[in-house]
Amino acid sequence: MVEVLDVFSSAYSFQEEDIRGKTVVMIDVLRASSTMATALYNGAKGVIPVGDMDDASKISHNLDSMSFLLSGEKDGIKIDGYDLGNSPLEHTPESVKDKTIILNTTNGTKAIKRSGLAKEIIIGSFLNLTSIIDHLKQLDEEVVLVCAGWRGRLSIEDLLCAGNIIYEVYSGQLPKDAKDGARVAFGLFEKFGDDIENIIKSSNYAVRLEGIVSDDDISYCCQRSIMQVLPVLKEGIITDLNGKEK
Ligand code: MLT
Repeated sequence: MVEVLDVFSSAYSFQEEDIRGKTVVMIDVLRASSTMATALYNGAKGVIPVGDMDDASKISHNLDSMSFLLSGEKDGIKIDGYDLGNSPLEHTPESVKDKTIILNTTNGTKAIKRSGLAKEIIIGSFLNLTSIIDHLKQLDEEVVLVCAGWRGRLSIEDLLCAGNIIYEVYSGQLPKDAKDGARVAFGLFEKFGDDIENIIKSSNYAVRLEGIVSDDDISYCCQRSIMQVLPVLKEGIITDLNGKEK
């Protein structure tokens, strides 16, 4: 049976040994996880998460120029010279079909890089919640949920999503020995799970990036289980495991 061991509130809130050999679900609701899920759902071949612009340009130099798109943001804004920003709504079928997306974001892709010692890294968001939950339920592994957060701080939208995953995996009954991180995420979801869009629209992220990131992006990322996508990182590239099983 799967055991969800803990929830880490940001990319910088865990030690290597906390995740070594375990399955990690990385959650960055606004917006890296949502963008990755959407790009794959819309036909992208894969998403390569990178830690910075240098990495992005090194990887792109080794690829055929027609085969990839550079996507990403700095402080919520599309990076100069990139094809796309980090809006899931820009990752339409027309723009991403059959392309590899090289994605560079402030917290989400860094959280993936910092989870490098995990046995497997899965990308979780509200958009692909059911795929994540179904997958976790059939594992017999130790799982940790890594919220990307923001520059080392907690982000309420990521913690809510982590709480939603735990709630569903354990059918609404938190195990007695749950760690504090899991208890807080679970409790937050119990309290606000019916009102996620309103809570997220008043989050630090929404306030900080008001006028920069559109309200449509935030509403989009608050939708639950609108796509069956299971993004999993293998050998540096995230692909849709559901798509492969079809
Ligand atoms: C991040 O990685 O911090 C984000 O996804 C930020 C954003 O999209 O604005």
